[in-house]
Amino acid sequence: MRTETAPTPPETVRLADYTPPAWLVESVRLDVDLAPSATRVRARIAFYRNPGHGRERPDLRLDGRSLTFVSATVDGRDVAADLAHDREGLTLPAAALPGDAFQWDCTVEIDPAANTALEGLYLSNAMFCTQCEAEGFRKIAYYPDRPDVMAPFHVRIEAEREACPVLLSNGNPGEVGDLGGGRHFAEWLDPHPKPAYLFALVAGQLVAHEDSFTTASGQEVALKLWVRPGDEGKCAYAMDALKRSMRWDETEYGLEYDLDIFQIVAVDDFNMGAMENKGLNVFNSKYVLASPETATDRDYELIEGIVAHEYFHNWTGNRITCRDWFQLCLKEGLTVFRDQQFSADQRSAPVQRIGDVKALRGRQFPEDQGPLAHPVRPEHYVEINNFYTATVYEKGAEVIRMLHTLVGAEGYRKALDLYFERHDGQACTIEQFRQCFEDATGRVLDQFALWWSQAGTPRLKLAEVWDAPTGTLTVRLTQHTPPTPGQDEKHALVLPIVLAGVAPGGGEAIPERLIELSTPETELRFEGLSERPVLSLLRGFSAPVVVEREITPEQRAVLLAHDADPFNRWEAGRGLSVAVALDRVRQGTRIPDLWTEAMARMLADDSLDPAFRALALDVPGDDEIAREIAGQGGLADPNAIHAALSEMREHLGSRLSADLNATYTAMRVEGPYSPDAESAGRRALANRCLALLAATRDRTAFELADAQLQRADNMSETLPALASLTYYDAPSAERHLDAFHERWKGDALVIDKWLSVQATAPLGRTLATVDRLTRHPSFNWKNPNKFRALIGAFAMGNPVAFHAGDGSGYRFVTEWLLRLDAHNPQTAARLAGCFESWRRYTPERQEAMQAALTQMREAADLSKNTREMVERMLGA
Ligand code: TRP
Ligand code: ZN
Repeated sequence: MRTETAPTPPETVRLADYTPPAWLVESVRLDVDLAPSATRVRARIAFYRNPGHGRERPDLRLDGRSLTFVSATVDGRDVAADLAHDREGLTLPAAALPGDAFQWDCTVEIDPAANTALEGLYLSNAMFCTQCEAEGFRKIAYYPDRPDVMAPFHVRIEAEREACPVLLSNGNPGEVGDLGGGRHFAEWLDPHPKPAYLFALVAGQLVAHEDSFTTASGQEVALKLWVRPGDEGKCAYAMDALKRSMRWDETEYGLEYDLDIFQIVAVDDFNMGAMENKGLNVFNSKYVLASPETATDRDYELIEGIVAHEYFHNWTGNRITCRDWFQLCLKEGLTVFRDQQFSADQRSAPVQRIGDVKALRGRQFPEDQGPLAHPVRPEHYVEINNFYTATVYEKGAEVIRMLHTLVGAEGYRKALDLYFERHDGQACTIEQFRQCFEDATGRVLDQFALWWSQAGTPRLKLAEVWDAPTGTLTVRLTQHTPPTPGQDEKHALVLPIVLAGVAPGGGEAIPERLIELSTPETELRFEGLSERPVLSLLRGFSAPVVVEREITPEQRAVLLAHDADPFNRWEAGRGLSVAVALDRVRQGTRIPDLWTEAMARMLADDSLDPAFRALALDVPGDDEIAREIAGQGGLADPNAIHAALSEMREHLGSRLSADLNATYTAMRVEGPYSPDAESAGRRALANRCLALLAATRDRTAFELADAQLQRADNMSETLPALASLTYYDAPSAERHLDAFHERWKGDALVIDKWLSVQATAPLGRTLATVDRLTRHPSFNWKNPNKFRALIGAFAMGNPVAFHAGDGSGYRFVTEWLLRLDAHNPQTAARLAGCFESWRRYTPERQEAMQAALTQMREAADLSKNTREMVERMLGA
């Protein structure tokens, strides 16, 4: 065997450098012999020349990382001596290849027990599991680990029967049998060609919650949800969500499931939410397990959405996959849009839309307006795992939503039908997707396509001139996208703008219309109006932009009271609250009655969905105000922001106390817990009332929370009461926290909530509390959920403590990120994003955050993942 220091691959991967694979795979046979620290993997791969790849026979290049090479043959001939190994894989020179098709047979050994990165094959609570997206399969076998190489897989797993009675992989079950000596095997056949990133293997002591589904064409599908013994009672909701997703994809998209079995496995140690491996989804247990006592309404909602998301990937992602990782939004943006549609159908569409936009503004806008800004389809990366971002997912979904708006529901369906018909079984690009829209609808999308390539949040400016004598409203709309790193020049985008005019006393003075703004500027004129209407702009948030407009509190009040578009009603209330907060932070302006009264009317308006009212009564978040201040050229002081928002909450709590108490009582849900949207909405409103009352720190409010904790038989009522008491430092908080821990110390997911409540409390002593909790027996920093629940919640959900003026919050988080980085780079790099907005804050904070980033950059052995994030954040 020759071992060479082959040239290290270029640091930066570029879309422009894409070349098709030289060798394609006809079929894969994988034999996995499981043992915790010495697993043997034998891969038998039938390769053939890619006919589209030029004339000369190319070398065979295979990816491989942390693999111990054992042997390799080509058509049975030992080729070990011909191989050139390097850190990223191996090369077999063309001269050693017999022809245009051959069989490669290679055995390696791997060490799952030592795999702390949770990528490739690893152990979680003695259970073997895999995570291969994006580039984890190369840690299992030498392989062309790129999504445009698709193949059918035949997998045989062998293991000790006692440690691993259950052996799972993708596809349909094949032979099983006993091997003597306490060992057994199982085979799995996946007939659908798939890229390696969709491979999965799970083995361990698991029990199945079973059900079945009959597809529209009458195929019976076995459904199995695998969990650890003891968790069987927490599977019903995820299973129900799965069946509803399967039906919904049939009725709304005409897409049926395509194997005899569909399985989900819940895993405790997982870097992200869930993974769509073909026929064998692997989930973070947080997004599967739910019982009324342990999961909140929000947990149920997330489980439903994520189960749907992963299931929908079966068509958008698996049957049609990505040509390369630059096309990630092809599967993620589209699949997020589909899961949002699903949730909107299953629950309240306006409430869903408001939640989606809040998430977009909360996570994607900061990204798009800061040092990490990148296009929905990035053009280069160092570490692809750093590009599973809010921009690719959430803005990617907004791009699909805009297409839907522009071509209409029917055109959209025609385009998607064509996409599935034309590209089933292929690895595609955004251009091919776009072509389907053009061909199906006849619409040219050249300019629209900028949404995929141009980074940054566009700003849409609205200027109005009202001419009373003629009853004419002239509206000028201007768009402008500020520069982002590496993209100084911005072009005008196609903005679908849904607008209407609302008469001051109610009613539509200007009927709703869709305007397509594709130039930098346009002017609209509305004539013959008897009075000046208030423009309801960007209904349903029809484009992901920041709106700049002059609007008076009175005009906002009109929209809040009368806008027929529920999203814009909520938006008007939000705008009002943001304006109050900004005035209070900047000039100490007293809280205007107009706002209090508007909130009071919302609270009391029984014609409105309680879930909607709960959202409308929510005072903006600290981050949102910080972003507004920075967006207007100022610097944010987290203490001042927090003080203003606390005063607003306290103000509502005391001024509206009678109404809040009344609504609190009226919203009480009797009878056994049910996670349905209506009861969840009532609970959300009741809990909002409770939180506002607690903000007064009044004894009676605390007693209300105490009582709720006493009587609650479900987590949706328990957790918010505990949070209110903790955040406002109620005398009983400590006692309740202790009791909660005592009651739930055996349930890891509930303990995560206990950690998060304490980590997000806006109290002076919180850093000390969090530091103490890092040494608590219930904490385990090596588990990603636990790390996120404590350190992540502190960094991302506790602005006052994280941004403490003395820099203590930054130092604490930095130290922990460095420790995590050595163990699990993917999760560390993701959490390092808590520093992305450093340029927003006051000079001394900027300096301290910059120092934290610099400290990380200088750290010895910093992972490539975190290094890329840190350097981008520093603007290097
Ligand atoms: N494809 C997954 C999804 O969106 C997400 C994913 C990417 C992932 N990489 C991962 C999940 C690593 C877990 C671990 O559904
Ligand atoms: Zn996804």
